[in-house]
Amino acid sequence: MTRVLLAAVLLAVSGCSGAGSPPPMPEPPSVPDIHSHARPAEARVTHVSLNLEADFPKRLLRGTATLTVARTPQARTLVLDTQGLRIERVFDQDQHPLPFALRPAEPVLGQALDITLSEAVERVTVQYQTSQDAAALQWLTPAQTSGKSQPYLYSQGQAILTRSWIPTQDSPGIRQTYDARITVPTPLKAVMAAEMLAPGGRDAGQGRRTFEFRMEHAIPPYLIALAVGDLSFRELGPRTGVYTEPAMLESAASELVDLEKMITAAEALGGPYRWGRYDVLVLPPSFPFGGMENPRLTFATPTILAGDRSLVSLLAHELAHSWSGNLVSNATWGDFWLNEGVTTYFENRIMEALYGADRAAMLAVLGRGELARAMQDLPAADTRLQIDLKGRDPDDGMTAVPYEKGAALFHTIEQAVGRDRFDPWLRGYFNRHAFTSITTGQFVTDLQQQLLRGDTALEARLDLQPWLTQPGLPPTAVVPSSPALAEVESEARRFGAGAAAGTLQTAAWSTQQWQHFLEQLRTARLAPAQMRDLDTTLALAASGNSEILFAWLRVAIARQYDPALPAVERFLSSQGRRKFLKPLYEDLMQTPWGQPIARRVYSQARPSYHSVSSGTIDTIVE
Ligand code: BES
Ligand code: ZN
Repeated sequence: MTRVLLAAVLLAVSGCSGAGSPPPMPEPPSVPDIHSHARPAEARVTHVSLNLEADFPKRLLRGTATLTVARTPQARTLVLDTQGLRIERVFDQDQHPLPFALRPAEPVLGQALDITLSEAVERVTVQYQTSQDAAALQWLTPAQTSGKSQPYLYSQGQAILTRSWIPTQDSPGIRQTYDARITVPTPLKAVMAAEMLAPGGRDAGQGRRTFEFRMEHAIPPYLIALAVGDLSFRELGPRTGVYTEPAMLESAASELVDLEKMITAAEALGGPYRWGRYDVLVLPPSFPFGGMENPRLTFATPTILAGDRSLVSLLAHELAHSWSGNLVSNATWGDFWLNEGVTTYFENRIMEALYGADRAAMLAVLGRGELARAMQDLPAADTRLQIDLKGRDPDDGMTAVPYEKGAALFHTIEQAVGRDRFDPWLRGYFNRHAFTSITTGQFVTDLQQQLLRGDTALEARLDLQPWLTQPGLPPTAVVPSSPALAEVESEARRFGAGAAAGTLQTAAWSTQQWQHFLEQLRTARLAPAQMRDLDTTLALAASGNSEILFAWLRVAIARQYDPALPAVERFLSSQGRRKFLKPLYEDLMQTPWGQPIARRVYSQARPSYHSVSSGTIDTIVE
């Protein structure tokens, strides 16, 4: 069936659907998603209505998901994605039970849930509970929080983990609105990536409160997010604020003071911010990512709280996703670079607008360095922007390539046409595709029709295809440069050649300069005496800046520098950010010196990590 035809059929169905509001009729996704069982051309979820209770003693969510379904009259099966869910009952809008069957579990994808539809079915309610080890959810004991007195729960949906706590069609191309009623034990509060109705919630009896939420924009299900804990809130600006545990509120609020300014800068580039509020939830240290762009409520690691706002580019990144990723989303995980590459470019522009070109240039150079190192380590096929994820976990595509090669493409296009032309095109791109999920092909078409406009000389100069389909970085890529980092390189060379640490001109160094300096030293063959000199003179093991500490610990492990081991152990045990854990464990596992250390620390720390991190580290530490 053609898409137009199908849309017409769906429209006809909605027109005669009787009482209640007819479901909206968005177009079905333009391409199949190999990471979902759903068959949206037949029957697709357009809205999710959750009614869930958090059971902390049992570590599970229990309740119902009511799904509004757009379907062809002929559709006989609604196919959902699930993982580890216990399905208790399925019924339609008239409470009539519907036959259902869970297919066998597939690695990575989970279990398809087939629900048999009769012609009259418009809404399907699934009564279910999550498993205790639901991949998306982390249940923290009070000891794992900063307050130490209340438990905590949070979800992480991207890429395909939402199916482990919500039975729905878990594909970024199948956008859904949602609402939710979440019941939690007092005094805990629930927050979601949605508008909170009746702030503070309402009494639900038996020492419980119910919080209500609504997301009126259709979003990919990986962006549905929930957190429950002892949360306090501080207003930062007219549409910004921060949620975190009371003990972290002061430091979080002071780190995030520039949030409102960031939105203003982002709007100048991307067009109006379309989501209403922008709040940040600073999570407990086990959060496996730096940040996650859940709409209206970015989730962030506490490891960005450096005290001097030096790591706020991470917030510029998550904010930028409000345009690239959330407004215009990748249609499949093979198009992931459209989310992260555009965002990494956008992040850099926000940083430039707020903190100047020098800081933006440093970040771009650091990013390019990461890309170069990733390209050395990855199989060639995985250094293409359009990566083939057939039979693989979308997580495999989460390397520096989509981020930094994608951003490099954008910087290169920008330089080829100039900002006068590039910026209006970028804003137009977000508007033309707002609230849709697009493929790399659709991006290329937009670029050709709206920016290149048949300018064959320009097209030839850009030579787009190799960027998307070939390994490596094309020679036409613009090369970022930063005098501030060049200066640091020469200090690193001087130190490597025997200068004393006390003679280094480090007084005015920014965090990014420290990161770059230490990255240079990681591959220098420093002698034990030089390591001791660095350690005692610069005292980096005591740094409260997670990026600087991380970079120092990598140098220390590379040189098998025993005095740093307590700091290595402390760092690996006190936070669960995969970006920090993975390289450190990998470094340790490379030598007979490091292996027993990695094994001992990991066996202790593993229970405190989110499944996203332990899943990765399980493949490293054996
Ligand atoms: N959306 C990503 C996080 C993500 C990607 C989670 C893929 C699961 C699957 C987020 O925007 C991100 O990129 N976070 C980065 C920080 C950023 C500054 C590069 C991270 O967590 O390290
Ligand atoms: Zn991102």
